[in-house]
Amino acid sequence: MKCAIVFTGTYGSTKQYAQWLAEKTGFPVFDVRSSDFNLASFDALIIGTPVYYYKLVIAPWIRRNLTSLQSKKIILFTVSGAPGGSILDGWISESLPPEFIASMQHFALRGRMDLKRLSFFHRMMIKIGGLLNSDPDARKEEWEGFDYMDRDSIAPVVEAALALQSTEIDCAQDQISDQGSSQLQTAR
Ligand SMILES: Cc1cc2nc3c(=O)[nH]c(=O)nc-3n(C[C@H](O)[C@H](O)[C@H](O)COP(=O)(O)O)c2cc1C
Repeated sequence: MKCAIVFTGTYGSTKQYAQWLAEKTGFPVFDVRSSDFNLASFDALIIGTPVYYYKLVIAPWIRRNLTSLQSKKIILFTVSGAPGGSILDGWISESLPPEFIASMQHFALRGRMDLKRLSFFHRMMIKIGGLLNSDPDARKEEWEGFDYMDRDSIAPVVEAALALQSTEIDCAQDQISDQGSSQLQTAR
């Protein structure tokens, strides 16, 4: 039985959290776009995704692979500007099938947005979003960026990941014998 961390993202914050989780758990970590990642090889997944435009970026991949994912243990971590709570829960409900949501554990992590690093298109969309946003705090974040990256915030995700060991799926034993598995494996 094997566990993996799989993530997507553009500007590195979801990847950073995935790497921190890999360091703590020993699970291998993959970019979901990598040809090295074989979904069928794993029984449990920690899935990491940023939120863009009120949607989970990884949602199309989850919908495409729903049947296969439903036989696995799933922990989802989202990375967003918004904190965890009802607004983020609403974005998750609009992004993912209800049967997937019902069978997963979710953890909200907060990310980073450096306006200078955004693509021209993303920067324009964010600035326009800021103009239209009636919430002054959210507008400030959209105009000035933010950095909420916090290594300590992964602690509950690590705890949930390691608790998978006490289920019928024993991740730890496989990871121990899987030498060098925590190295990031991408096609890039
Ligand atoms: C184009 C774009 C759209 C975004 N939309 C949202 C959003 O709707 N809600 C939110 O809370 N954060 C939003 N964010 C903030 C991202 O979730 C945050 O910057 C995250 O850390 C990005 O992940 P990445 O570095 O892995 O790409 C957006 C960021 C970008 C660049």
